[in-house]
Amino acid sequence: MRGRGLVCRDPVYGFAKYIVPLLIQMEVSLTMADRHGELSGRVAIVTGGAAGIGAAACDALAERGAAVTVADVAEEINEVADRIKSSGGAAQAVTTDVSDQGQVEGMVQRTVDEFGRLDFLLNVAAVSGPIVNVWLADPQAWGQAASVDLFGTFMPTRAALPHMLKQGSGRVLTLTSGLGYIPTPRPAPTARRRPE
Ligand SMILES: NC(=O)c1ccc[n+]([C@@H]2O[C@H](COP(=O)([O-])OP(=O)(O)OC[C@H]3O[C@@H](n4cnc5c(N)ncnc54)[C@H](O)[C@@H]3O)[C@@H](O)[C@H]2O)c1
Repeated sequence: MRGRGLVCRDPVYGFAKYIVPLLIQMEVSLTMADRHGELSGRVAIVTGGAAGIGAAACDALAERGAAVTVADVAEEINEVADRIKSSGGAAQAVTTDVSDQGQVEGMVQRTVDEFGRLDFLLNVAAVSGPIVNVWLADPQAWGQAASVDLFGTFMPTRAALPHMLKQGSGRVLTLTSGLGYIPTPRPAPTARRRPE
């Protein structure tokens, strides 16, 4: 999965570049002004922003004028943030393990301190975990994946919502997997975080 880095030009990366703006428009219910590229003054956090869909989401948001916090455990966050800044956008890279409550709360606070508000949270960080038959799955490995895919979605959302509630606006978008809708004896933790 980590092969889908920001320098990768494989079909999945192309898919992400196409689908993320569409997801943002459809699921986040942007205003008409936003659809025409006016996200200036808006602030976004993208977890899993170092690679793949998350990195493409950072680019898509920044292209529309939003300031972006690129949050991930991978050091490629710096490349994503530098690319945005060199294009004239606003971004900061914040090393964050989404399963760590203290790191997540610190990252959200740094976002508000740096950019003044918080409008969008995109939960993209994930690990695929052990995709094997349930009776063969290693409990410890499954638990570690769940701590990223489940708690790693809950914690950023929990930390972001007070700021959004205080503002009176905000959007949270969580990526999941189509596997969440397909019965299988090999359930992966990422498929369990079905957005409601
Ligand atoms: N790529 C696809 O075709 C596809 C299809 C359906 C669903 N999805 C879902 O989209 C999401 C992202 O997919 P992707 O292909 O971009 O994955 P990816 O592996 O390319 O990127 C995931 C990112 O999450 C980061 N990450 C992992 N553990 C972390 C942690 N503890 N804290 C912070 N960051 C962490 C990784 O470093 C990586 O940058 C996943 O939830 C995946 O299930 C992807």
